[in-house]
Amino acid sequence: MHAITQTAAGADLIWREAPQPEPGPGQLLVRVRAAGVNRADLVQAAGQYPPPAGESEILGLEVAGEVAAIGDGVAGFTIGDKVFGLVAGGGYAEYCLLDARLAVPQPAGLGDEQAASLPETWLTAWLNLVDIGQVRPGQRVLIHAGASGVGAAAIQLAHALGARVAATVGGPDKCAWCRELGAELAIDYHCEDFVGAIKSWGGADLILDTVGGDYLPRNQACLNRDGTIVLIGLLRGSEAQANLGVLLVKRQRLIGSTLRALLVERKAALSSALWPWLLPRLAADKIRLTLDRCFVMPEAAQAHAWLAGGHNKGKVVLLG
Ligand SMILES: NC(=O)c1ccc[n+]([C@@H]2O[C@H](COP(=O)([O-])OP(=O)(O)OC[C@H]3O[C@@H](n4cnc5c(N)ncnc54)[C@H](OP(=O)(O)O)[C@@H]3O)[C@@H](O)[C@H]2O)c1
Repeated sequence: MHAITQTAAGADLIWREAPQPEPGPGQLLVRVRAAGVNRADLVQAAGQYPPPAGESEILGLEVAGEVAAIGDGVAGFTIGDKVFGLVAGGGYAEYCLLDARLAVPQPAGLGDEQAASLPETWLTAWLNLVDIGQVRPGQRVLIHAGASGVGAAAIQLAHALGARVAATVGGPDKCAWCRELGAELAIDYHCEDFVGAIKSWGGADLILDTVGGDYLPRNQACLNRDGTIVLIGLLRGSEAQANLGVLLVKRQRLIGSTLRALLVERKAALSSALWPWLLPRLAADKIRLTLDRCFVMPEAAQAHAWLAGGHNKGKVVLLG
């Protein structure tokens, strides 16, 4: 098969021959027709986010395609079935292993590129807003990087669950786009301080922070009493100065979270909750697919450059 490979961390992304994986017990081999691109792939390609032990070294955290082979002990799938799902690596390839517990039958009407755009961002949003953040109707939720793949899912999820949503983004067009997705307040951080804007709005009860770094004390400054910050990304770095006085007096909670390293049983439980909620809403146009752009698989470097430049609104997908 072919896959995107590198000769070393930080080296060019090249589409070339690579060993084809074989499905072990509980696994499906998927002929990949589309693979989502995520910020984590850029970080891994730069050598800073190695895959969990035992997972493929190949980039790519979500795929859609057809079942090409079936491992021992798998029931409910046959060769040729259209499936999509979350993987912990290996998506930027012609063939990829998918744990059958995470494989979702592709609904009619959902194309490969659309299906491949869903798992990583929506499972991340569900894990951190619903499971960890315990979002409730009427709460005020602040989503940083609102036009990112994760941000677009998180805005729509929080809004659909009855929360009031604010988002930060870099630019007026991204502000307008986040409002279309359900944010009642969108702040262009290039020209407005989000702390003042969120305080005037009534403060935040829950913050989904994809940014980290110097956003931590600023998040604390606009987080309400008993509020929660769920930290899921470090776009501005891993060094931060927390205000422990504010943390203590306002009974704030700061929780770090990562989807990729969770046990597959937990991911399967998240999948069981998310897909029956999301797929009917997508079919009924109550939730929008936020597919920004597709590239063919050998153009993975161009896809990464598109993300790195912050050009995307929503998801980027590679076509296999
Ligand atoms: N912990 C987890 O399990 C998990 C899972 C998935 C994703 N994540 C994290 O979620 C974040 C979004 O991922 P994604 O794949 O959806 O990303 P993405 O689509 O590539 O979007 C990232 C966006 O973040 C904004 N950004 C970049 N650098 C920034 C900075 N220094 N300060 C503020 N904003 C910045 C840019 O938008 P603007 O133009 O609006 O600034 C950029 O378009 C990443 O941090 C990723 O690591 C975490």
